[in-house]
Amino acid sequence: MTTRAVVRGVGHYLPERIVENAEFEKTLDTSDEWIRTRSGIERRHFAADDQTTSQMAGIAAKNALADAGFDPTDIDAVIVATSTPDLTFPSVATMVQSELAMQSGFAFDVQAVCAGFVFALANANALIVSGQARRILVIGAETFSRILDFEDRATCVLFGDGAGALVLEGCESDGDTTDRGVLSVDLHSDGSYRDMLYVDGGVSTTGEAGKVRMQGNPLFRQAVAKLSQTAETALDKAKLATTDVDWIVPHQANIRIIQGTAKKMGVPMDKVIVTVQDHGNTSAASIPLALSVGKQSGKIREGQIIVTEAIGGGLAWGSVVIRW
Ligand code: UT7
Repeated sequence: MTTRAVVRGVGHYLPERIVENAEFEKTLDTSDEWIRTRSGIERRHFAADDQTTSQMAGIAAKNALADAGFDPTDIDAVIVATSTPDLTFPSVATMVQSELAMQSGFAFDVQAVCAGFVFALANANALIVSGQARRILVIGAETFSRILDFEDRATCVLFGDGAGALVLEGCESDGDTTDRGVLSVDLHSDGSYRDMLYVDGGVSTTGEAGKVRMQGNPLFRQAVAKLSQTAETALDKAKLATTDVDWIVPHQANIRIIQGTAKKMGVPMDKVIVTVQDHGNTSAASIPLALSVGKQSGKIREGQIIVTEAIGGGLAWGSVVIRW
């Protein structure tokens, strides 16, 4: 027998304000046509001025708990993946814990930028498999709009805000590929790429939050190669083939990266959940948002093989294979 971390619920939250590509045409030398063709993005949501990452995370968490049919008191741990916390500390996860009126269990944040949700999922899986927690809320939440330079057309048109959450529960399973739950994990990082995508501020440097800086084109090339590799490795570890995949649920940075990765893996695009047109790149929130939208639309169903894959600043990248 093996303990598996099984998905019991999923939920998300998107802020009310929708910003269409055309809005950027008013202030920047850009066009709806460039943004659509180079990134696949058509619109994104931006948080209201008084809206925080923890508030969005809290709503996504409540939606995931409702989907699972669990109360906050059923949860042992809260893990939030974010690069845009409300404050330097305490963690967003403890703020969510407070919002849920949970006074027991434990909570912490994970910072692996756009790969954050995959890293958080891997941590949650390890905690469940090792018996340190039974039910964990895993959340990806970002207010990336707060760290965008709205004069830099190469970055500000790409990102958006939002939150998504999963509820995982440890269950005894047979220990084979027919089990529900997390079947494999593959994680990587390589700090020699640190200048490819970073924020030019922070606590021990400028004392300010800073703005996103990105070498888009070199990152694009790294992304397709590394994402297909990690997804294939994760499938190998799970003893599955690409033909077993029901849905790839990729980090939603750019439709061309999503298409290039699927093509390299030999998986057709009708097996890929795509939300980048409506959400833009929401960093650590993009995969749980796509999982939630995919489930709500009836595409993602119990028993299916789901491959999540993501890459972001660091570089940090990885993949988690789940039987839903
Ligand atoms: O989430 C973490 C992971 N993130 C990523 O993986 C993002 C990876 N990169 C990308 O998605 C793409 O590289 C971008 C969408 C950022 C850019 O697409 P690209 O095809 O790589 O374009 P490029 O950077 O090579 O730029 C092409 C041209 C440049 O002009 P010149 O030098 O050819 O005259 C840019 O200045 O497009 C120009 N450009 C723009 N033009 C209109 C850059 N941004 C814009 C813009 N509007 N918003």
